[in-house]
Amino acid sequence: MKDGLNELKYSWNEFAKKDAMGAVLTGKEWNEESFYQSGREEVDSLMEEVLEIYPGLNRARSLDFGCGLGRLTFALSKHFRHVTGIDISKKMIERATANRRNSDGVEFVLNESRRLTAIPSDSVDFLLSLIVLQHIPKKCIKGYISEFLRVTKPGGLFVFQIPTRRVRDEKKERYWEGRPLNWDSPSLGKLCYRATVRFIRWIPRKVRELALKDDRLHRFLFFCKLWGEEPVMRMNTMKKSALERFLKKEGGVVLKCRQDSAAGDALESFTFFVLKESGTGQDRADFH
Ligand SMILES: C[S@@+](CC[C@H](N)C(=O)[O-])C[C@H]1O[C@@H](n2cnc3c(N)ncnc32)[C@H](O)[C@@H]1O
Repeated sequence: MKDGLNELKYSWNEFAKKDAMGAVLTGKEWNEESFYQSGREEVDSLMEEVLEIYPGLNRARSLDFGCGLGRLTFALSKHFRHVTGIDISKKMIERATANRRNSDGVEFVLNESRRLTAIPSDSVDFLLSLIVLQHIPKKCIKGYISEFLRVTKPGGLFVFQIPTRRVRDEKKERYWEGRPLNWDSPSLGKLCYRATVRFIRWIPRKVRELALKDDRLHRFLFFCKLWGEEPVMRMNTMKKSALERFLKKEGGVVLKCRQDSAAGDALESFTFFVLKESGTGQDRADFH
């Protein structure tokens, strides 16, 4: 469990066995068609955006980091001659490999390390990673981003999504029994009743909020789940300013950075479009 990667492997293998599509895209029921259709829509729209900001992108090789069942990998094969999907979960890779949809030029590779060991330096024109870094322990995130820079060709692009902070100050609409609160001059008795119900409902929310605020408690709850052999899905964040400084230091040029809703309401999330400038190639081959 030293660097948290074992926990990731274990949890994502368990998710792949139980409800792989539901774990990849939480909060909805999927069938295979709607699941892969969501990938096509996401990739087609993202590629439009990419080509708008960087029309010179070479379309030979792309890499999908944290490919899962290949939802985005298969969709990328419409835009690139060759696509590699890479994932830490053996079960996900097995299931993606067994899926025979438009698999021309598509391969899946298991990568259980902190480095992208199977991918040579300066070999990829385009790298994509959506809804992956958020699950990776904070201390490993920068290492993977350095690897994105290492494997991307000079003049190539990588695009990744990552939550940047928890949103604690969202203005909540006030609801009463499922409907917006209606100030209807209630009697004193009714007011006391409402206040009591509201207080009772507030307690579990407050406990949850405190648990989320306290990293130690959060970690303790995760370990309790793991001891019970329950897979866990962490949601991690990295500050936007820290990421921007890191990318600059490593030689990446942020062409675009836009907010997205990939991590849900409780987390602010951004998609970064980063160019590896020509001339920052071979000198990075010895990273680590
Ligand atoms: C939420 S799923 C997203 C899958 C895919 N990107 C998509 O959008 O359909 C997250 C995936 O990231 C993979 N993953 C988590 N940590 C990883 C790591 N350190 N290296 C490679 N893959 C990882 C998990 O196994 C899982 O398949």
